[in-house]
Amino acid sequence: MMTDKKYYMVGNWKMNQDTETIKQFFKVLYDQQQSFNCHGWIAPQFIHIPLCQELSQKYHQDKILIGAQNCSDQVSGAFTGEISPTALRDLGVSFVIVGHSERRHIYMETHKQLNQKLHTALKSDLKVIFCVGETLEQREANKTQAVIAEQLSLGLKQLTNQQLSQVLIAYEPVWAIGTGKTAGPEQAQEVHSFIRGFLSESWGGAAQEIPLLYGGSVKPENVVDLLNSQDINGALVGGASLDGQSFRELCRLAAS
Ligand code: PGA
Repeated sequence: MMTDKKYYMVGNWKMNQDTETIKQFFKVLYDQQQSFNCHGWIAPQFIHIPLCQELSQKYHQDKILIGAQNCSDQVSGAFTGEISPTALRDLGVSFVIVGHSERRHIYMETHKQLNQKLHTALKSDLKVIFCVGETLEQREANKTQAVIAEQLSLGLKQLTNQQLSQVLIAYEPVWAIGTGKTAGPEQAQEVHSFIRGFLSESWGGAAQEIPLLYGGSVKPENVVDLLNSQDINGALVGGASLDGQSFRELCRLAAS
């Protein structure tokens, strides 16, 4: 059982939003004046990070943490176009998402690369949301657990207990991302319980404290049933996190 009972509501904005929609988003959250009794985190595009930090500070006393969707597996050097995790930390960024299925499948990021990113990000003092998840073909071939086990064992390789405490795992079945199809609470809980067990085997009791988030077409209509599952400690939300009203509602439901 986790000692931190607050749920995590993490918005992954992907390659969306602009200055105006972001200002509107934070204003809507603020207008409702609700107390955020959940961990509200937002990952905008890199270039929007300072604006989000400024608005989070202005309206929410920094209670909405701002993170990144990706980072380099290197700290510095001749890597044109890459973003260093230390540069992110320098900017006051709190967390980074590593291993999102769009990075794995569109940009062909490998287990080795993701493991390297994880270590570099942790050494740079960032928390890491490490994503795992199976494709529809893998699920239908009964390979879900094998796929998740491989993603975890190679992706989290050589992580110390201390480092693990800075990691959150997001289970995002690839077939549920942006498709409107959500894993049912039981389907999701089954995988989350498998992940918890897998982490316990390698890291013992420390695994109980690792927040496990579910992601894939989460919205206000389905979030409560998901969060009521024993091993689901929050959600990683794409589409439904873009609108201030909808994100506010997700946070309200997570806090209630
Ligand atoms: P979705 O995206 O909520 O739009 O399905 C989730 C994610 O990719 O993190």
